[in-house]
Amino acid sequence: MASSSSSSPPLVQKKKQYGFFSITTLYLFLFLFFLLLVSIFFFSKNALEPTLSSYKDYLIWSSNNSPPLVSTSPPTPEEVVSVQIDPVVVGVKEKEIPIQEKSSLVDEQETIDSISKDDIKDGILSVNSMSVDWGSNCDLYSGKWVKDEQYPLYQPSTCPYVDEAFSCQGNGRPDSEYLKWRWKPDGCELPRFNATDFLEKFRGKRLMLVGDSMNRNQFESILCILREGLSDKSRMYETHGYKITKGRGYFVFKFEDYNSTVEFVRSHFLVREGTRINGQGNSNPTLSIDRIDKSAGRWKRADILVFNTGHWWTHGKTARGKNYYKEGDVVYPHFDAIEAYRRAMRTWGKWIDANIDPKNKLVFYRGYSSAHYRGGDWDSGGTCNGEKEPILSGAYLDSYPPKMKIVEDVIRKMKVPVTLLNVTRLTNFRKDGHPSVYGKNVTDGRKVSTKRQDCSHWCLPGVPDGWNELIYLNLVLQQTTPSHQK
Ligand SMILES: *[C@@H]1O[C@H](CO)[C@@H](O)[C@H](O)[C@H]1NC(C)=O
Ligand SMILES: *[C@@H]1O[C@H](CO)[C@@H](O)[C@H](O)[C@H]1NC(C)=O
Ligand SMILES: *[C@@H]1O[C@H](CO)[C@@H](O)[C@H](O)[C@H]1NC(C)=O
Ligand SMILES: *[C@@H]1O[C@H](CO)[C@@H](O)[C@H](O)[C@H]1NC(C)=O
Repeated sequence: MASSSSSSPPLVQKKKQYGFFSITTLYLFLFLFFLLLVSIFFFSKNALEPTLSSYKDYLIWSSNNSPPLVSTSPPTPEEVVSVQIDPVVVGVKEKEIPIQEKSSLVDEQETIDSISKDDIKDGILSVNSMSVDWGSNCDLYSGKWVKDEQYPLYQPSTCPYVDEAFSCQGNGRPDSEYLKWRWKPDGCELPRFNATDFLEKFRGKRLMLVGDSMNRNQFESILCILREGLSDKSRMYETHGYKITKGRGYFVFKFEDYNSTVEFVRSHFLVREGTRINGQGNSNPTLSIDRIDKSAGRWKRADILVFNTGHWWTHGKTARGKNYYKEGDVVYPHFDAIEAYRRAMRTWGKWIDANIDPKNKLVFYRGYSSAHYRGGDWDSGGTCNGEKEPILSGAYLDSYPPKMKIVEDVIRKMKVPVTLLNVTRLTNFRKDGHPSVYGKNVTDGRKVSTKRQDCSHWCLPGVPDGWNELIYLNLVLQQTTPSHQK
């Protein structure tokens, strides 16, 4: 290996001194050639072995020119974009459009620990003259949906930031009872949502959602609920004038009167997507599970971060894991998607620990949001149309999803505290909340197609408003949003 090249020059000189020119040169040449072959062999083996050793079983190692890549017409970045964001509608192009995993990612955890003692008197949490009956051990995520006529938090079709895919009423959805549910934990009452107070609490700060199209769904929701708190709604705008579309990956909304922003950064995996040129000269997508996503530079600028990833790990090339996952310079011929997810989450955790100062920043991870496809999957005729009510009893997840365990595990080992929004179960009840066939405008006499339904994302107003209420609750509880005043 390395020693061969360093040892050869001395060798040459020595032999020269002894003067057997022609023959030694020939031997030497052969010897060096042999060394070269041996070193190539060892080098390539060694480069791979340490990382792969525990995955031998999955490995089908076949030299540098890996086997033909499975499927995938490499989409251009733009195509990927559109595919991802709108699985149900655009998803036809590639089968990767996730979002319907039965199981989930999830969580919550530190929420309760973060209530400061001063906020609680006799088990009652006081917030702005509001008294909240806060059981001493309230599990926010164990509860039920209750009817509440004060909901929704904004009227359907009034918020300009809801894009067509989520604008169910505007698209012709006839029933509206699904708008009137509020999440009620068993052991306590959540503080009533107050948009103005939310805006006050992050005055001067930047809130950023980072993730896939489910996070865009949540992003649009938060824009809409905060907008309701503005007396002059024209004082809120996208700084570049961009309209929200699934094709764009970065938005910054400014709240002029509060000197604050709410931003969205698209990052499907949180780790770095790339491409490689295969033996046939085609370029194919890769995912570097040991490197943070390129957009991470932007993440640093936020004061409050809300992450998610998950749906994209269960489909197409990501699930197959062939010639796709990459560590260092090595693209694995075959790699298990769950293990890849674990390593990617660790990469994310390390990045957070190294780059985020918990003294003045807040980090949330929003857990897996349940999908409801009856009789099929998102790409095989699964449906959820006609659902008008949440599941009001029973209804638990079939099993605890391995990816949830991974997220919890990674977070537990991090230095920076991450608050898990454990929305899996509460979304699991809401089979009525998806766009289903109303992800497209069918009001102008167009026939409703029941073929492809979106039973993954949520109508707005709707379920993601509740996730944002949980973020609000956390701000209320911490009383401290990041504090770097000038
Ligand atoms: C749907 O189409 C109708 C009629 O063309 C229009 O009035 C309505 O604003 C559209 N809704 C949305 C959400 O674009
Ligand atoms: C909402 O919060 C604002 C600002 O903190 C406060 O002035 C207002 O009274 C609150 N509204 C309600 C209904 O509690
Ligand atoms: C607005 O907030 C930024 C930090 O996000 C701060 O640097 C700036 O001084 C603030 N401006 C005003 C007018 O408060
Ligand atoms: C999240 O909720 C699930 C139930 O959906 C529960 O099993 C799990 O323990 C929760 N995770 C945390 C960290 O509380």
